[in-house]
Amino acid sequence: MFESKTVWVTGASSGIGEALAHEFTREGAKVILSARREDELKRVKEACVAEGAVEGSILVLPLDVTDEASLPGKVAEAEAFGGGIDMLINNAGISQRSLCVDTEMETYRRLFEVDVFGQIALTKLVLPGMIKRKRGHMVVTASVAGKVGVAQRTGYCAAKHAVMGFFDALRAEVTQHGIDVTTITPGFIRTNIAKNALKGDGTEFNKVDQNIAGGMDVAECAGIIMKGFKKGKKEIAMGGRREMMALWLKRFFPNMLFRTMAKMG
Ligand SMILES: NC(=O)c1ccc[n+]([C@@H]2O[C@H](COP(=O)([O-])OP(=O)(O)OC[C@H]3O[C@@H](n4cnc5c(N)ncnc54)[C@H](OP(=O)(O)O)[C@@H]3O)[C@@H](O)[C@H]2O)c1
Repeated sequence: MFESKTVWVTGASSGIGEALAHEFTREGAKVILSARREDELKRVKEACVAEGAVEGSILVLPLDVTDEASLPGKVAEAEAFGGGIDMLINNAGISQRSLCVDTEMETYRRLFEVDVFGQIALTKLVLPGMIKRKRGHMVVTASVAGKVGVAQRTGYCAAKHAVMGFFDALRAEVTQHGIDVTTITPGFIRTNIAKNALKGDGTEFNKVDQNIAGGMDVAECAGIIMKGFKKGKKEIAMGGRREMMALWLKRFFPNMLFRTMAKMG
């Protein structure tokens, strides 16, 4: 299904993006790997090649999603490599571990720059090519936190709710152009997300928290995402029983969920 398709994954230097890079190269896709750390992207590329991927089928394209001025040039490079982008996976992201009272406005702005405006900026630049070709697939890694409010993540939850809204609205606009839109809502997945999360003052949390340490294996998460793509799902959720139950409660018994989350907070 993905053979010879060009798939651009942001946040590909670690975690879910890295695991997706492996999945797509195994499927024979041309893959563009983006994140800020070029050395880590090269490591991911080498690992994919060691697994059997063709060297020339992977482009390492370092970028910072918040550096808006640099993005048009990056999109041009990606399009030249792939002959157009078939799928953009907006997966780069950072989380938060701080109470609202302790969180500086600058930290909230940083979370929104990376998790919301970075995704929107890249999506806007890739979209015209997809509309022109009358096909494409836009994806965002949102979160269960994009549907459920979790303590110590007021900024992160707000950002993830925002991208859920953005991409759901985008779907309503672009389906007519033959473009699919998928939102991914992971629960707790074992990655560096907690370690890289921001504290209230904007510095890194730099710890593994228990929820993430006990979360789903990242390769299993990527496998579920791939299955969802193949089934044409518009929303792909995965994680432990607790997080999947939280999604269900939010939909059918929101007050019960609010009470539970307040006790946990
Ligand atoms: N793990 C979970 O439990 C979980 C749950 C729900 C949703 N998610 C979402 O899944 C996505 C991937 O996170 P992960 O769990 O795989 O965490 P991760 O291991 O920390 O990966 C985050 C990725 O985002 C990249 N990134 C961060 N800031 C960036 C920027 N300004 N520009 C470009 N790339 C940037 C990082 O690379 P560089 O540092 O090299 O830039 C890294 O590749 C995120 O959107 C996260 O919110 C994760």
